[in-house]
Amino acid sequence: MSKYTLTPGTAVPPTPFYYYDLDLLRRTLETATAEAAKYGYHIHYAMKANVEPHILREIQRAGLGADCVSGYEVQCAVENGFSPEKIVFAGVGKSDHEIEYAVRQGIFAFNCESLQELEVVNELAAKQGKVVNVALRINPNVQPETHKYISTGQSESKFGISYTEVDQALAKLHSLGNIRIVGLHFHIGSQIRKMESFAELAGRVNEIAAWFESKGVELKHLNMGGGLGIDYQNPDAEPVPDFAGYFRTFHENLRVAPGQTVHFELGRSIVAQCGELITRVLYTKTTAGGSDFAITDAGMTELIRPALYSAHHKIENLTAAAKGRPMGLYSIAGPICESSDVFARDIEFPVSKRGDVLSIRSTGAYGSIMASNYNMRPIAPSRFSDEK
Ligand code: LLP
Repeated sequence: MSKYTLTPGTAVPPTPFYYYDLDLLRRTLETATAEAAKYGYHIHYAMKANVEPHILREIQRAGLGADCVSGYEVQCAVENGFSPEKIVFAGVGKSDHEIEYAVRQGIFAFNCESLQELEVVNELAAKQGKVVNVALRINPNVQPETHKYISTGQSESKFGISYTEVDQALAKLHSLGNIRIVGLHFHIGSQIRKMESFAELAGRVNEIAAWFESKGVELKHLNMGGGLGIDYQNPDAEPVPDFAGYFRTFHENLRVAPGQTVHFELGRSIVAQCGELITRVLYTKTTAGGSDFAITDAGMTELIRPALYSAHHKIENLTAAAKGRPMGLYSIAGPICESSDVFARDIEFPVSKRGDVLSIRSTGAYGSIMASNYNMRPIAPSRFSDEK
């Protein structure tokens, strides 16, 4: 059930808006940190999932570091109290000024994604008279079962340094005086529900790390990226994702050298389930083909995941009167002038009416952060459970 309750006699604020259940966020953080602590693992929150200051405050207080994919995210993390020693910076296209900013901050590590990037980071660090920590992001060629747009660790993907190029990368590192290799970084994709994929990743990392060690490279850390998936079909069955199974899989499969630290970059699993998009039905209509549509005031400008990845989000009608109504077959669509602006097609849904309030669940990750102003729409505000 949605955590956003409609109180009789109390007006619902203007829709659409995001609503965040901070209790669930805290419970999620407690579980994630407790499970990681069993093995001494470190979590860096993937800022790309959501940067609402309230949410960042909770995450920072829980002791997580930050995983950033732009200089702007690095700056946002610093401004929200994350210590630079806990910030990692990945991304295939870091611009010079983003690198310069991160060098100035003295972050934990640059996750470098190409041989050319190693040279650029070296040059920009030299300009500031610094030696910076670098982890090589290696593309391990592991194929997880997830949407092709959110899988990143396969040989044809743009991410990382190919595992066939590690020889060259090492030779380059020896010749560059302002970068110091401290670790390896991997990330095979997102919304991964099968633990076997992570076990496979760990197996590949063991081989790659052993190769570096055989060349005399001391790896102070291994960074396994993020990717733990959540239950979008049935968010109430698993409000807190399976952190126990996730970390246990690495513990059982990843070989860790003495003194080496293990890091993770989790985004979706930390924030997805605590967020909902609250919207109203503006109009209902039936097409010539007999399909019923409910048109909402939220659209792909607020939540692009269904349009972009055909992603499923559970939708609930929160209006009390809807509970007693019969069920129908509805498509729920937004107001944007794009045929792909549909949240769900032909789902079993209570007969809906103009003014009904709906919740689109599991939208705390990659929801508000991917919003746009298309059709000149304003960015939807956020509300939090502790404000009511
Ligand atoms: N580390 C790196 C290097 C990444 O590229 C990502 C996500 C993460 C960590 C965090 O992954 P997570 O734990 O959230 O799975 N917009 C898409 C997801 C894109 C994920 C991109 N990278 C979506 O809405 O599903």
